[in-house]
Amino acid sequence: MITDIVLGIQHGDEGKGKVAHHLLKNGNYTHCIRFNGGCNAGHTIYHNDKKFVTHHIPASVFFGVPAIIGPGCVVNIDQFLKELNYLSENGIDVQSNVKIAKNAHIITRAHVTEDTKDEKIGTTKSGNGPAYRDKHNRTGVRAQDIPLLAPFVIDMYEELYQKEDAVILMEGAQGFWLDVDWGDYPFVTSSNCGVGAVINNGIDPRSIRDVWGIAKVYETYVGKKKFQPDDPTFEEIQKAGSEFGATTGRVRQCNWLDFKQLNKAIKMNGVNKLVFNKMDVLREVKQWGLKNPNMVFGNDENEFVKFVTENMPECVDEIFFSASPKTI
Ligand code: IMP
Ligand code: MG
Repeated sequence: MITDIVLGIQHGDEGKGKVAHHLLKNGNYTHCIRFNGGCNAGHTIYHNDKKFVTHHIPASVFFGVPAIIGPGCVVNIDQFLKELNYLSENGIDVQSNVKIAKNAHIITRAHVTEDTKDEKIGTTKSGNGPAYRDKHNRTGVRAQDIPLLAPFVIDMYEELYQKEDAVILMEGAQGFWLDVDWGDYPFVTSSNCGVGAVINNGIDPRSIRDVWGIAKVYETYVGKKKFQPDDPTFEEIQKAGSEFGATTGRVRQCNWLDFKQLNKAIKMNGVNKLVFNKMDVLREVKQWGLKNPNMVFGNDENEFVKFVTENMPECVDEIFFSASPKTI
């Protein structure tokens, strides 16, 4: 078994979907597995120049490679079927390759109703938190309990250990600073979003090859706490970067890249491949800065790149600076 991982190292919306799609295009993977979260996620992917937004289904669906919703995920049945339909209507073959781990949990209508009343965290109101709560309370419902899902349901052990050698891409959702253990609790999601969550999907830890840490060159966060400083620069970034949620349409609050937090997330997840997305946005705004340490570079992109490259943790062996929503 060989496993590569794509995970967010900020607060979600880093562009994981784009990177996963890019790797799947070239990577000879036998499987792609979503390892956490539910339809709170929104992955924007350009496939053959056409824009798609997916919530549940991993990016390998675009390439006819088994796309598995792993046991670390929670699934909304209506949303899942809607997404299958949407992909199929847009020419993507969903028939043979979309799978759900039998032990993944279900987001019920009651979970969604409950989450809709949230006023404290600023959740995506998708029922994610209540579904994970019931999972851990041992009162949840699993994919294997739902006859309607039977055609999709698989056993992870059978799928990954009983056939040919698996080459797996693990596709994360949200980001390490939304992780229930490592984020700014309670302003977090209800799953683990880091490399630890990968293993719990039934992956041999010794199989891990590359950990792709995905970041933007600035920070964004969606939720109740105040995150964006009162400074018109961040409104410009918000606009230039179209920082509106793919799932909820809410505005994402913006700030400069928190370099200290980024370094922590890189080390704690063993990131060796780092992608900085949305270089094009700061080029347009013509301002480059960092928070922690507080630094302003004016319009000097080169100084910014030089600083972050020179101060990267040693585990990072390759850094990609991307200026396109379609590829890295
Ligand atoms: P929940 O995951 O819907 O419970 O939301 C908890 C927190 O995580 C809120 O601040 C959400 O805005 C945030 N969140 C959840 N999923 C995403 C995502 O995919 N991108 C960005 N923020 C997210
Ligand atoms: Mg998103």
